[in-house]
Amino acid sequence: MSMEIEKSKELFSRAVQVIPGGVNSPVRAFSPVGGQPRFITKAKGEYLWDEDGNKYIDYIGSWGPMILGHNDRRVLAAVHEQIDQGMSYGACADIEVKMAELITEMVPAVEMVRMVNSGTEAVMSAIRVARGYTGRNKIIKFAGCYHGHADALLVSAGSGLMTAGVPGSAGVPEGAVRDTLTASYNDLVSVERLFSENPDEIACVIVEPVAANMGVVEPKPGFLEGLRDLCTSNGAVLIFDEVITGFRLKADGAIGYYGVKPDLVTYGKIIGGGMPVGAYGGKRAIMEMAAPVGRVYQAGTLSGNPVAMRAGYEQLMILRRNPTIYEELNKMGEFFRKGMRQILESAGLPYKVNGVGSLSCLYFTDQEVTDYASAQTSDTEKFADYFRFMIDKGNYLGPSQFEAIFLSDAHTMKDLNQTLFDMCEYFGV
Ligand SMILES: Cc1ncc(COP(=O)(O)O)c(C=O)c1O
Repeated sequence: MSMEIEKSKELFSRAVQVIPGGVNSPVRAFSPVGGQPRFITKAKGEYLWDEDGNKYIDYIGSWGPMILGHNDRRVLAAVHEQIDQGMSYGACADIEVKMAELITEMVPAVEMVRMVNSGTEAVMSAIRVARGYTGRNKIIKFAGCYHGHADALLVSAGSGLMTAGVPGSAGVPEGAVRDTLTASYNDLVSVERLFSENPDEIACVIVEPVAANMGVVEPKPGFLEGLRDLCTSNGAVLIFDEVITGFRLKADGAIGYYGVKPDLVTYGKIIGGGMPVGAYGGKRAIMEMAAPVGRVYQAGTLSGNPVAMRAGYEQLMILRRNPTIYEELNKMGEFFRKGMRQILESAGLPYKVNGVGSLSCLYFTDQEVTDYASAQTSDTEKFADYFRFMIDKGNYLGPSQFEAIFLSDAHTMKDLNQTLFDMCEYFGV
């Protein structure tokens, strides 16, 4: 019997009248999978509850931030304490200094850091600073990597071949992406070619060190190191977009996990403990390009907001004090992927399971997924059917083939086994 979702249906029918598509961020509309978006009333630990009282095991975790699970009591206590002191000052506060000190201690590659309000803002600002620092305009991004919705980064990902920028969204003028060049993920030759075709013109290379917006694609051995070398030899700034991987793979993120040091790094999600926060940081000489020290303007009314800082600071402190969280999370991720692979094997299906640490993705394709082109071989109709079955059983997965499964410290083996059990039923095992 299907879940009762009448209240969500009623709310969605009202929402579409007054909010474009009924949602404040597109993928929440379930457009890629069909079906009815759920309206959530409560979140606790690894669970979500919707308006109709249905309970779900949450594998999104607010798209990454909730690494400790929802409403961690320690994070909540810090937020409550700050709210009593004031919601926003628009002036300096000690928590901003503590936050910056904590980040620079946790990630030694970050010598200075500036707080902003979202991942989009972090990336946009890092690119501006990189351009200001190098005095160059062109940037290289990778097909299938998402870096937020700033104009210059909304470039059609294409087929993974090198292309000059073509806007992937209406409303983005060609001029805004003219200087955005696209290379193929895990393909150093495509990057080398762009460097040699644009000598002394590339300001920066921006990359998700684990590509987690085309499912989950790990960097091949040598890929990140190769980018480091190419940037160094061409005088370009290497930016790791760690909005997803930051403080998730390890306390020092992908930088520590893969042992490659970028010049700049961008954060979001976990750094805010569930509040709207982003940050960019890195080498002192580059960061000092930002106003008021340098000539690159970047600002924010609510940047470093004390309530948001308290939430993020508390979450980061918990992660820092308890490094075993990462061992456990990464072990759970391995267990989950192994379980999925066993189910697929028993069902005689050739589908692929990718992942690293607490990030995973089941692709409905028989091809190894190593870049955007191979990710696109997935059968999204099959994924949609699987998604609708799984949510009806109480498993809240990302509503698109190309979203990651996020685990949190609140998930248990019981949760994972329940979800694997439901997968067995779906695949007839
Ligand atoms: C790697 C990456 N960079 C940047 C962003 C943009 O972050 P935000 O949605 O906070 O603007 C995202 C969002 O999912 C992301 O995954």
